[in-house]
Amino acid sequence: SGFPSQVRNGLSKLGVPPEVLDFFFQWFDSSEDHPKIPEAKGAVKAIQNEAFFIPLYELHLTYGGIFRLTFGPKSFVIVSDPSIAKHILKDNSKAYSKGILAEILEFVMGKGLIPADGEVWRVRRRTIVPALHQKFVATMINLFGQATQRLCDKLDAAASEGEDVEMESLFSRLTLDIIGKAVFNYDFDSLTNDTGIIEAVYTVLREAEDRSVSPIPFWEIPIWKDISPKQKKVNEALKLVNDTLNELIAICKRMVDEEDLQFHEEYMNEEDPSILHFLVASGDDVSSKQLRDDLMTMLIAGHETSAAVLTWTFYLLSKEPTIMSKLQNEVDSVLGDRLPTIEDVKKLKYTTRVINESLRLYPQPPVLIRRSIESDFLGKYPIKRGEDIFISVWNLHRSPHHWIDADKFNPERWPLDGPNPNETNQNFSYLPFGGGPRKCVGDMFASFETVVAVAMLVRRFNFQIALGAPAVNMTTGATIHTTEGLNVTVTRRLQPPIVPTLEMPLLKVDASTSSPQGDSV
Ligand code: HEM
Repeated sequence: SGFPSQVRNGLSKLGVPPEVLDFFFQWFDSSEDHPKIPEAKGAVKAIQNEAFFIPLYELHLTYGGIFRLTFGPKSFVIVSDPSIAKHILKDNSKAYSKGILAEILEFVMGKGLIPADGEVWRVRRRTIVPALHQKFVATMINLFGQATQRLCDKLDAAASEGEDVEMESLFSRLTLDIIGKAVFNYDFDSLTNDTGIIEAVYTVLREAEDRSVSPIPFWEIPIWKDISPKQKKVNEALKLVNDTLNELIAICKRMVDEEDLQFHEEYMNEEDPSILHFLVASGDDVSSKQLRDDLMTMLIAGHETSAAVLTWTFYLLSKEPTIMSKLQNEVDSVLGDRLPTIEDVKKLKYTTRVINESLRLYPQPPVLIRRSIESDFLGKYPIKRGEDIFISVWNLHRSPHHWIDADKFNPERWPLDGPNPNETNQNFSYLPFGGGPRKCVGDMFASFETVVAVAMLVRRFNFQIALGAPAVNMTTGATIHTTEGLNVTVTRRLQPPIVPTLEMPLLKVDASTSSPQGDSV
């Protein structure tokens, strides 16, 4: 690619730092006749909006699949084009780091799997992925069912008393209970309790979200760090969560020392199937900060994301009674009142499509963050190292260029007998779990978790937006939240009798599993 780049490569081999090279060679780049990324002008207000991905959508319609936003000395490249997203996430992923995201999350996740880059990431990814093996995920289905049952009991009480409920916070508690058990065998029991540790987890989470939307990094100012009451509270919360983690790691270590299980690929302790137990048994260093960083990362990654998916799924369902009754029909015939098994989950195809479609309309998180660590081309545009890039999954998922009736909640757009939609078969216009080497490690877990929760809830209840409830608007931290909760009126369904599934007409129906639980009105 020409004389300048040969000289540049030569100097680079002689040890001239890339920053210096960038500075001296920038005019060569521009003289090479490359187009410049379109600049979205007068868009400063864009990122100050509560849900900043909304104005980015308007700008995408005006400026296209890639454009630049500049605020004083800072500038961001916004990507809404599937092939550029694929290039960054998959084809040339080694040229990108987590950038700002790693800086924001450092205080809570350290070098955990989400923010980590380079060799640390490679080693930890290889260690952690095996822990989420098939047998583990299948075992978790039972946990999803039991946890959702506790939520059902709570809703049952609310239905009896005719009280409205705020579902967003209940979903947050449901998924906290699930992820605590799954990651380190700890029962927060947050659906029935309010303990210091739960409060501490939420303090840390809120801080992470505040930091990700704050334009000024207050937490880095030396004196502020020590005297601000908020920062003090955050530090105390972090300490409590860390102490608890240390305790759980110690308990787990003792269990592993005492058991005589052979470690193998699908190793699992039935009594404690957690990810932590797998990691300790596989020989992970229990004294390391790395292990705690990864546990904390998975706690956060698997908590608010799933909660947000459930919240927006029920919001969408509350507006589409036809889809709701189709969903209920499927659940009635496949599941009845059993706790779901893995076979049930696989048969809940329409339920799965409802989740697929909810993830399209409300991707969690709505943008993926990267930073270029070498110069590269995005489509026809050259970029330098050090560019901060936002891949707007929101825009990809709602772009009128890729979707018919993009804003319509329409699970039917995914045929039931077709493949489960993912980034590969949708060519990166649909990427609910990211893509490439940094794709979500919890995608199966999360899909089954949300399918089980939705199925059990709609089997037993109808949900309607509460009369006089505030409008459901969006705001964002790491995931999309509502501004004032999802307030609904829950009523018990008159449950139809259980119809055995058509695929097994010759099997006898076991009376013990098909009897309703006595909760019909
Ligand atoms: C990464 C979404 C649940 C653990 C990701 C990414 C997305 C995502 C989009 C890619 C981030 C990026 O490329 O910047 C979701 C959604 C979930 C969910 C929508 C729920 C519906 C979970 C669960 C766990 C988990 C349950 C843990 C058991 C992780 C981890 C990463 C990740 C560790 C980082 C992987 C890496 O960088 O190598 N998730 N996730 N996620 N997720 Fe999830």
